[in-house]
Amino acid sequence: MGPAREESAARPAAGLEGLSTYRIETWGCQMNEHDSEKMAGVLQSLGLRAAPNVEEADVILLNTCSVREKAAHKVFTRLGQLKRHKTARPHTVLGVCGCVAQQEQERIFARAPYVDLVMGPRRLDALPELIEDSRRRRRALAVFDPKESLVPENEEVLRVSRTRAYVTVMEGCNKNCTFCIVPFTRGREVCRAPEAILGEARRCVAGGLIEIELLGQNVNAWHHPGGGGQPWDFTRLLGAVARVPGVRRVRFTTSHPLHFKNSIIEAMAAHDAICHHLHLPVQSGSNGILGRMHRGYTREQYMDRVARLRERIPDVTLSTDIIVGFPGETDHDFELTMEMVRLVRPDSIFSFIYSPRPDTPAAEWPDDVSPATKKDRLHRLQRLQDEIQMEKHRALEGSLMEVLVDGPSSRKPGQVCGRTSQNHLVNLPGDPSMVGRFVPVKVTHAGLHSLTGLPESHLTS
Ligand code: SAH
Ligand code: F3S
Repeated sequence: MGPAREESAARPAAGLEGLSTYRIETWGCQMNEHDSEKMAGVLQSLGLRAAPNVEEADVILLNTCSVREKAAHKVFTRLGQLKRHKTARPHTVLGVCGCVAQQEQERIFARAPYVDLVMGPRRLDALPELIEDSRRRRRALAVFDPKESLVPENEEVLRVSRTRAYVTVMEGCNKNCTFCIVPFTRGREVCRAPEAILGEARRCVAGGLIEIELLGQNVNAWHHPGGGGQPWDFTRLLGAVARVPGVRRVRFTTSHPLHFKNSIIEAMAAHDAICHHLHLPVQSGSNGILGRMHRGYTREQYMDRVARLRERIPDVTLSTDIIVGFPGETDHDFELTMEMVRLVRPDSIFSFIYSPRPDTPAAEWPDDVSPATKKDRLHRLQRLQDEIQMEKHRALEGSLMEVLVDGPSSRKPGQVCGRTSQNHLVNLPGDPSMVGRFVPVKVTHAGLHSLTGLPESHLTS
């Protein structure tokens, strides 16, 4: 911890004079959302406060995603827009953080010379110094060395939700899916110690956050960082978090099918606090494609996992990720994916058009599915999923579900929203005093992406 952090929160730390507000824009996954919470925590501890909009911000940080080319492009489009702002207010510190920062490093300064700082994931510790440096000599850079296995512990986290807390269990990924840039941008796996994870969960509960979401790119590969001989695996960690007094809900993301052991299913069945929802990316329904993706399982093995999960936890919901148009994906391969979706009937799907990423093995292969075919496959898959999803949501109409109210609804004033254990988004009439409460809700209307309901108390009174 640098001396700057000990400054009072009322005025900016030394070296940061003239800076009083910040704005962070976030793209990408939950890990990025959580990194932004950590960045905000660091900035607040330096005496800065959140700006209501980008125009009034003295420090602007873009926390970026490079998992697909489109996401990485958006960063440079956004930088182009912010250039005007930087010219009008030259004292503004403009930073690029996250995966594009790690991937592009100094090249960001070459493409956007008005950028002041570049900070990769795992380097949040460097943020105060980077801001100071950028004011003295511009172009401050901190990225991590992939050989380095250190991840700084962040004490200051400014959490967005008043009920839910993200808790990182591991950084990076040791899988080498042939399409994926994450092992390059977030590095090799580094696990946090169980004491650190459980300590953070306890602090969250003390602060009123009763739902803990454990985060890792390959969360179920978590193991004790002490290495072999330590009787800790992800199943045990999950149970230990579920038993922390005051923890009412536990989620975890993202699981890899290869490490999704029966013991995790048993833990989900055994602990009331563990939510009945699983995100288990399948990527494709064709064994040929799965093999070339280097995923390490077959469609049969995936379906077997899901069958086992549903047998033990009948009301569990399943979400998955699917890529269409992977190099060499034939019509037949794609039909196998469609068939698999019809058989598995996921509760939701995140579907993507394959995008070649720098340094990945698949980027060396001919990207031979035409853009029109890729689009057509994506649409067909999404239409199929919409049908399945709508049917599943309609079947919930009239049922009673327990909703943990998370905040005001973005749809209508006088409404709040929350999630069921199965991760359904539910809107209901209510006011902010309900945040953090579990409310039994009768589902009155099913939409494609959310449900509407009435609190049980409304029905009986
Ligand atoms: N294990 C990670 C995966 C990160 S990437 C996690 O925590 O979610 C999220 C999803 O993006 C992947 O599951 C995959 O479906 C998709 N994806 C990754 N690389 C991609 C690429 N090159 N083109 C298209 N989609 C991709
Ligand atoms: Fe990416 Fe595969 Fe890891 S999708 S994050 S390399 S499990």
